[in-house]
Amino acid sequence: MSVPIVRTLADLRATILAWRRAGAKVAVVPTMGALHEGHLSLVRAALNQADRVIVTLFVNPKQFNNPADLAAYPRTEAVDAAKLAPLAAHLLYVPEAGEIYPDGFATSVKVSGVSEGLCGPFRPGHFEGMATVVAKLFLQTGADLAFFGEKDFQQLHVVRRMARDLDMLIEIVGCPTVREPDGLALSSRNVRLSPAERAIAPKLAHALFSAAAAIVDGASVDRTIEQARSAIIAAGYARIDYLELRAEKDLAPMHNFDRQARLLVAAWLGETRLIDNVELRRRGDGKSRSEDGKAGVEIEK
Ligand code: PAJ
Repeated sequence: MSVPIVRTLADLRATILAWRRAGAKVAVVPTMGALHEGHLSLVRAALNQADRVIVTLFVNPKQFNNPADLAAYPRTEAVDAAKLAPLAAHLLYVPEAGEIYPDGFATSVKVSGVSEGLCGPFRPGHFEGMATVVAKLFLQTGADLAFFGEKDFQQLHVVRRMARDLDMLIEIVGCPTVREPDGLALSSRNVRLSPAERAIAPKLAHALFSAAAAIVDGASVDRTIEQARSAIIAAGYARIDYLELRAEKDLAPMHNFDRQARLLVAAWLGETRLIDNVELRRRGDGKSRSEDGKAGVEIEK
């Protein structure tokens, strides 16, 4: 079975209204397409928790601070639809630009605090453009649940903050990062890597994993980060935008590992900017998935 595609807000709303009348719980999975297993894991999680799942596909020009990045962004709608069919997602919403940004569009959603720092200074306007389109997708679908990947951890925080601040009646569900067997986090941008770059790429995740393990074992945060930076550059990355330890709960900067944390990185491999992050749990913080009960560095190996 193929997944039904709608392109207008009117059609989207008509479909959802019928679902709602039948009492269905509705989930949305916002994407920019070029779907991979990371996206599909969100769709599966959504199908587990809702009766009807809408996947949205919109390459949002407002969140691209770099025009070359927007131009090079992969657009593979037919392949994406084919990937969703076996999962039995209920609807693919591929809005035309005018359905999202009608003539004279003049509104924007700016979330301060969590948008500043990390990717913020390197991608001016990105989180504002992202929050604006996500707010629209929430309002257009009226979904009960929305699924986002921890791969984009700062984005997840921005979306949660926005939903809380604007009293949006939607539950934001974060899902773990899906990785290639060699550790590289799946990303739509990975297709841009040359074979030589692809061979180097997983070293970013490896540097993160070992730094996270060292910090959990008691090594100095700042010194460990310095060593990880050197390892990333030695591996062949051109430059590092940031590599920082932040609080899991509110993204506050951390220099001592005294609460649950994330180590987050953005680095350039040739012309491609890759981001990744890993969770660090303190001994006794509960919820650790490690079998021996020791402090868990939560990484998908
Ligand atoms: P996109 O990059 O297409 O990602 C869509 C969703 O898939 C995001 O929630 C992202 O975190 C998640 N995702 C990407 N790679 C993942 C991986 N390896 N494992 C788990 N989840 C992963 O993020 C966006 O689009 C846009 O900013 C969007 C929210 C759609 C707004 O335009």
